[in-house]
Amino acid sequence: MHLSLSLSLIAVVGVTLFTTTPTSAQVASPPKLRCKCLPTDGCWPNEATWTEFGKTVGDRLIATTPVARECHAPYLDQAKCEEIVKGYHKDTWRSLQPGAVMSANWETFRGEGCLLNQTAPCTQGEVPLYTVKALSVADVETTIRFASKHNIRLVVKNTGHDYLGRSTAMNSISLWTHFMKGIKFDDKYTPEGAPAGTEGTDAIILEAGVVWDEAYKAAHENNRMVVGGNHPTVGTSGGFCQSGGHGPLSPRHGLCVDNVLQYKIVTADGILRIANAYQNQDLFWALRGGGPSYGVVVEAVYRTHPPASFVLIVSKITAPDEATMLAISQAFYAHQSQLSKDGQATHSPVPTTSFWLIISPTAPWIPPRLPLSPSLTLCVPSLELKSKWRTMPRSPHTRHSSMPG
Ligand SMILES: Cc1cc2nc3c(=O)[nH]c(=O)nc-3n(C[C@H](O)[C@H](O)[C@H](O)COP(=O)(O)OP(=O)(O)OC[C@H]3O[C@@H](n4cnc5c(N)ncnc54)[C@H](O)[C@@H]3O)c2cc1C
Ligand SMILES: *[C@@H]1O[C@H](CO)[C@@H](O)[C@H](O)[C@H]1NC(C)=O
Repeated sequence: MHLSLSLSLIAVVGVTLFTTTPTSAQVASPPKLRCKCLPTDGCWPNEATWTEFGKTVGDRLIATTPVARECHAPYLDQAKCEEIVKGYHKDTWRSLQPGAVMSANWETFRGEGCLLNQTAPCTQGEVPLYTVKALSVADVETTIRFASKHNIRLVVKNTGHDYLGRSTAMNSISLWTHFMKGIKFDDKYTPEGAPAGTEGTDAIILEAGVVWDEAYKAAHENNRMVVGGNHPTVGTSGGFCQSGGHGPLSPRHGLCVDNVLQYKIVTADGILRIANAYQNQDLFWALRGGGPSYGVVVEAVYRTHPPASFVLIVSKITAPDEATMLAISQAFYAHQSQLSKDGQATHSPVPTTSFWLIISPTAPWIPPRLPLSPSLTLCVPSLELKSKWRTMPRSPHTRHSSMPG
């Protein structure tokens, strides 16, 4: 399993990676890397092949265009454009567009693409050429096999939140998992393949398209808590947990990766595998912190926790200029390890001249060193600080509607 998996991954994603010490055979014959097939190449599938492929994924193959296209001649459509302008800066709207990711800069390449600016040209940029709106494991398998057979670049997208722009790419097929929304609970979950008699665990079972807000609500209704991220529209199965996954409950219950019980994943060879403590352990290890790229997770199972209250502090910090903001940020980051030792989870979106600071003290619910605000104010006297304190009942999902992520 070690060898065949890593080799097939090398062939498909072009990454040199060894999960074990390379043997002499591996060193002597490195895998052949091929450039991906482009629409201008002879290897690119013709129209009939695309149509045929579309039928194999339930006619959910979408020819993908940039989201602002209908605001640009010759595609200009005034009504559609007004809708686009309304949604353009909303994460919930962006999540629902096959051609969008959260940060529009990732939709462009060297300044070329299609933004709202109507005087600039509208080109495809980094927006995938096709999107498969996947609804089942079979859709995922079929798409991976098609992309692999035709040597076409494949990207995986749930929400498009990725800070590194990894959920969009030029000349690619996008495998869009966002509508795989199944959520189940099991209060005696045992990973598949666990020895008979293994004690069951309280768990939430999530299909790949679920976002944290949906998981929090479901957990709340089931009188459980789950370690997720701060932002409601971040996905539960993708880059968040596979890269670690930090959230308001982390000081108490660990990172998301500390709570994973099992993944179901379609690997680059198009095969569905189960990764847990009892089978495909190397893959299970990689998926808990190695970052997304080991395959397409179709189902994640996370431990849940008993409900408890915690305090959430949301501060909006406004500074007169960027230099002051930099000083504030430095002061804040200098405090961060102590805050963490005190059991507080902190989150601070990248500042310009104003930023939100979200602190969720969780251990043992009322931390010893509160409030933080005076210490920050001492560092930067010009600071204008507005804090809201609230005790959160049971689950992080009951958020203030104006709260940022
Ligand atoms: C506003 C905001 C708030 C955030 N808050 C937090 C936070 O509180 N804590 C924290 O730890 N992080 C936070 N993040 C970072 C976030 O966890 C990462 O950006 C993460 O990669 C987003 O994952 P996604 O699945 O929602 O996004 P996507 O862009 O859809 O996917 C992210 C990556 O995962 C891959 N991927 C998606 N689904 C799958 C799948 N099913 N199988 C395999 N690969 C997949 C994609 O290819 C891409 O590489 C935040 C990000 C934003 C933009
Ligand atoms: C819009 O595009 C034009 C042409 O590329 C450019 O000159 C202008 O600066 C852009 N405007 C904004 C606000 O980015």
